[in-house]
Amino acid sequence: MSSQSTDFAVILAAGRGTRMKSTLAKVLHPMLGRPMVGHVVAAARAAGLSPVLVVNHQEEQVRAAFAGTDTAFARQVQTRGTGDAVSSALSALPDSGTVVVMAGDSPLIKEETIRSLVAAHGDAAVTVLTAVLEDGAHYGRLERTAECQPWRIVEAKEASAEQLSICEINTGLYCFDIAWLRAVLPNLEPHAHKDEIYLTDTVERAASEGRAKVVVHDDFSEVLGVNDRHELALARQALQARIVESHGRAGVDFLSPHTVVVEHSVAIDADVTIGAGVVLEGRTRIGSGSTIGHHCHITDTSIGAGVQIHSHSVCESARVDDGASIGPYARLRPAAHVCEGARVGNFVEMKKSRLGPGAKVNHLTYLGDATVGEGANIGAGTITCNYDGFTKSTTTIGDGAFIGSNSALVAPVCIGDGAIIGAGSVITKDVPADAVSIARGTQSNLEGAAERFRSRKKTDD
Ligand code: UD1
Ligand code: CA
Repeated sequence: MSSQSTDFAVILAAGRGTRMKSTLAKVLHPMLGRPMVGHVVAAARAAGLSPVLVVNHQEEQVRAAFAGTDTAFARQVQTRGTGDAVSSALSALPDSGTVVVMAGDSPLIKEETIRSLVAAHGDAAVTVLTAVLEDGAHYGRLERTAECQPWRIVEAKEASAEQLSICEINTGLYCFDIAWLRAVLPNLEPHAHKDEIYLTDTVERAASEGRAKVVVHDDFSEVLGVNDRHELALARQALQARIVESHGRAGVDFLSPHTVVVEHSVAIDADVTIGAGVVLEGRTRIGSGSTIGHHCHITDTSIGAGVQIHSHSVCESARVDDGASIGPYARLRPAAHVCEGARVGNFVEMKKSRLGPGAKVNHLTYLGDATVGEGANIGAGTITCNYDGFTKSTTTIGDGAFIGSNSALVAPVCIGDGAIIGAGSVITKDVPADAVSIARGTQSNLEGAAERFRSRKKTDD
């Protein structure tokens, strides 16, 4: 039997995961941009297998997490153990051939490990992947005969002290002969301990027929099973290290690689520098030569080449074109678009607004539902008043316009190209191109009045 005949991976994802102490099903816990089981599904696909997910607990949410993908599902009516879970998936499999079985709670498994397990399987009934640990903890132990042949797997909870001292553990990744599995699974007895049917019992059957094989894997970190929140944290850390390493090898400079969060879906070009504590999520893209300063949080944002995002800036569903500069402490909300060479400074918020090429909005400003022309300068403290409590309206600021500090532009309003707005103005009417518009109280200077005021106060005392 060749590896080409393996088409399916049954992924066990029906359990509640009581040890997580969570209202969310264990396999749905988020891990760097995917639910935990999403990483297992991705590894199976990368190894050329079609995933069949066994579901029960929070079934609808698990199905929804894979909506729009060609993932098949099998329903386990009651979660009566891993053997029962695989039985529920048999109807989704061909009559014969080979199937890989994977645990939905082992998210670090690599494509090449699945491939090498399949390659080693040959005409065995079951091939199980094991790993050697100093302390086998809660994992099932693989017992071998005196001839060092696989004999059976004993669960930690049911093991004797002697069995617990065995260092070789079951990783929960297997390859099975489907026809053999069909014959054997219905005959497995439930274990009294949990009234569950254990998939691991298939190993003893296959061993008695001389058809059990073992592949020992040398990297335990890859087969870590997640059963509680601490193991989830460890798995996330290991996956993060992998993602950071692959970017590093591709030319990305992480100033503090252990403090960043970079989701699997983020794309970063070569020659980008990423500061400490940076969070990069979703469909974020960063072009070459850009720098992301310390503690920025960037989600679903497209960043061009040679962009500077200074520290503590937050960007969500935004677009920043080549050579632009953002922050420190700037906030780009959805549909903010900063064009080439434009500058957004500290404490500036932009939402659904376009800042034209080379335009500047350097301090303490809100741009909402606004279009700002090329080379315009927006003074400190400018607010586009886009909301009257009922509807949102737009502000248009022309090319080369200059908005004096602390102006309020009450939308809908249009400032023409090259217009100048005096500082402190409240603009409620359109301003023509190249006009100067001042809308503020007139200043009056009363000569000597301050001195008169002070002397009057002194005589009153
Ligand atoms: C299992 C193995 C153990 C192995 C370990 C590796 C058995 C009996 N034990 O133990 O030898 O060392 O994995 O991580 O198989 N699931 C279902 N339906 C069920 C029960 C479980 O779909 O009825 C799913 C769970 O959602 C989980 C996976 O199967 O994704 C493994 O189940 P879990 O209860 O975590 O098994 P372990 O105790 O870790
Ligand atoms: Ca487990």
